[in-house]
Amino acid sequence: MPTMGALHEGHLSLVRKSLAETDVSIASIFVNPIQFNNPSDLKKYPNTIESDIKLLESIGCQMLFNPSSKEMYQSLPNLKMDFGNLDLILEGKFRPGHFSGVGIVVAKLFNIIQPDVAYFGQKDYQQFLVIRNLIQDLSIPIDLVCGEIIREPEGLAMSSRNKRLSPDERKTASVIFRSLTKAKQEIAGKSMTEIKKEAEILLQQSGLRLEYLELADRSDLKLIQQYNPANPSILLIAAYLGEVRLIDNMFV
Ligand code: PAJ
Repeated sequence: MPTMGALHEGHLSLVRKSLAETDVSIASIFVNPIQFNNPSDLKKYPNTIESDIKLLESIGCQMLFNPSSKEMYQSLPNLKMDFGNLDLILEGKFRPGHFSGVGIVVAKLFNIIQPDVAYFGQKDYQQFLVIRNLIQDLSIPIDLVCGEIIREPEGLAMSSRNKRLSPDERKTASVIFRSLTKAKQEIAGKSMTEIKKEAEILLQQSGLRLEYLELADRSDLKLIQQYNPANPSILLIAAYLGEVRLIDNMFV
């Protein structure tokens, strides 16, 4: 389970899944500098290593890999990874270079740890597909598992970035989940243009700014304008509360 720390129930659910399905579970905590397109996001990324270690111990995780930046990058890699359409849409579009940085660090972690199975969360669904492509394209002998999204009681998807929100803001931010739920309920009878407009207004009323809300094919995230119940699809959203950027998604 590769993570960037500031662990929460979402991360722990992946560790628990691994504990149940494999012999030895190894978590990694490394805040990967080359995947941050926004320097202030990197600077403000929460670090709670002491409590992270306690949490991992408390659920019985056998190993933690917690390298320094120097250990991971003797020098910054010249390598760039290109994930085609996945780099051009959604997170790829709004965070240029992000998936190249993710792909490189995950490939390094796979080489260092050499796991049989790797666990990633649906919370970052586009990242999950990026890793699936990486594994396929480089013939990496690892089984990839996707864990479900773990949410706060009011629906906000758990995220390390939530630590930058006050308790009140976390409640406010659950409007992201409500927007997704509403979009899912209405998608059969409305165009995506209408759905997006309504979500934008709903979010605005709570003080959030919508960055994107899109419907996409679940297998490759090709964007879809009109919902077709015959095709497995997914709604994906990104929104800002103040300076904090939050993402979420829901299968439809
Ligand atoms: P991080 O954001 O720490 O997430 C680590 C893993 O936990 C990812 O697979 C993510 O999808 C999963 N996760 C996060 N929130 C979750 C939630 N609410 N429910 C279920 N799973 C959740 O993703 C990264 O770190 C990095 O990009 C990384 C892959 C470690 C590469 O640096």
